[in-house]
Amino acid sequence: MDEPIRIVHFSDTHITPRPQFMAKEFNNTLKTINNTPHDFSIFSGDLTQEGLFEEFEFASKLIKKIISPISYWIIGNHDSRSGGFEVWEKMIGPREFHDFADEVLFIGLDSCIPDRDGGRFGREALDYTKKILSKYSDAKLKLVGFHHHLLPIPKTGRERSNAIDAGNMLSILLDNGIDAVFTGHKHHPNVYKVEDTIIISAGSTSSYKTRSGGQRSFNYVEITPEKDIKVKIQNTTGEEIRTELKTITRNFRMVNSTGGKWLRIAQLSGTDFGSSNHNQLELFKKGMELVESTNPDVIIHCGNLTEEGRSADYEVAVQAFTPYSENLIFCPGPNDLRGYGETLLHKYFDIENTIEKDESSFYVLNTSAPETEIGVVGRTTQNRLVRYVYHTKMEAEEKFHAIVMHHHLIPIPNTIETSALEDAGDVLRMLTDTEVNLVLSGHLGRAFCTRVEKTAFVNCNTISSQKTASIENSFNIIDISTEGAIVVSEILVPSGFRRILGIFPGN
Ligand SMILES: [Fe+2]
Ligand SMILES: [Fe+2]
Repeated sequence: MDEPIRIVHFSDTHITPRPQFMAKEFNNTLKTINNTPHDFSIFSGDLTQEGLFEEFEFASKLIKKIISPISYWIIGNHDSRSGGFEVWEKMIGPREFHDFADEVLFIGLDSCIPDRDGGRFGREALDYTKKILSKYSDAKLKLVGFHHHLLPIPKTGRERSNAIDAGNMLSILLDNGIDAVFTGHKHHPNVYKVEDTIIISAGSTSSYKTRSGGQRSFNYVEITPEKDIKVKIQNTTGEEIRTELKTITRNFRMVNSTGGKWLRIAQLSGTDFGSSNHNQLELFKKGMELVESTNPDVIIHCGNLTEEGRSADYEVAVQAFTPYSENLIFCPGPNDLRGYGETLLHKYFDIENTIEKDESSFYVLNTSAPETEIGVVGRTTQNRLVRYVYHTKMEAEEKFHAIVMHHHLIPIPNTIETSALEDAGDVLRMLTDTEVNLVLSGHLGRAFCTRVEKTAFVNCNTISSQKTASIENSFNIIDISTEGAIVVSEILVPSGFRRILGIFPGN
């Protein structure tokens, strides 16, 4: 790989003889692709509108006009409708495949559930991906494509159509050093750098449906031998809408965690104080002994202090946390707001939105609402948060910004994405665009961390509830150095065993 690799990435053509298909936009795309020198093309799903045989017949004729040295075709949820997944295999190609040529590996996957909009990879596709990645571990460039998105996409509302096992796929891709991921589905072009992996979503070339009046578009991607990735998002006639350049460092070393001690955070969640939680006080006591032994500057509780938000639950919780109240930051979880929970919460706790500490500011974001597991931030709060971050950045540029919330934004391995944040796509974009340093969450009982763009996202397990999704209870210790490096470890309770979850050098 001595020369840059040039890729045409297009998606969501939604071809049908009916008016939902914008034929003129498709013809423009066709001409632009044929006039654009490229090494291969990736189509990331929704070739047809309804997966009907007549649509595949029509689409097959149209796509034959595309001149591309190599074409990779990935199935979308619309193609899987009406038994279309079988027609796809007969008329387009396999739904799961890999290709290795000139040191470049491409894996194409089917993330669709027939007749459902939502996605799922499933155990077999996850195993297949792992197997191929280990077989071609020496490949110079590793690329993966599938239809559904992996991270929440802006402007797409309630996150109900991401792949339910997105967390498992994300961890496989990060663990195996994938260079770029190509997705479609939401008809909104978007690019994220997640650690050293670039996740590229294409808009739609020719569907009647686009978001926020956006133009129909596709991507032209260039990858240099040094793995710098340039994504030009262009309209169907090839005019640039915007270009995003992502550089990959890959020179990461553990010792890159520079600087002296600045701040140590103990992050916990899901204490779930209540009557049906046996052994819990014992586990909590042991957990807090371990927390104390790490000598944190601040203790952050990411929600579900109580089991049911009952008065008795709150009384136990208040008693348990009184010794730590000086250094405690708390945000509510859905359990805390059940019944009269919301009223009780304000009786027992003084919830403030912003807490300033040394050179840092913690913004407490209540994402929970009574009687629902689904979280929401809302546009008013999003705007308030953006104003706050920019305002405090103007006052002191070096300020460290952390957000404390209950619901997670990044899919977590070995959990099902069913109760995420309703407006996760917009919130993730807002937090990464404003370059918030750290986002803490505590949903689903499992520890996980990663970094998207310049923002580290850390989710923690429950410290003392039996409802953990992990083998043992745990909490996280987050060390931040004077140079801004972030080291995240998970401490198991009761053993005290420490697992490193992530090390992120200073930005
Ligand atoms: Fe689509
Ligand atoms: Fe789709």
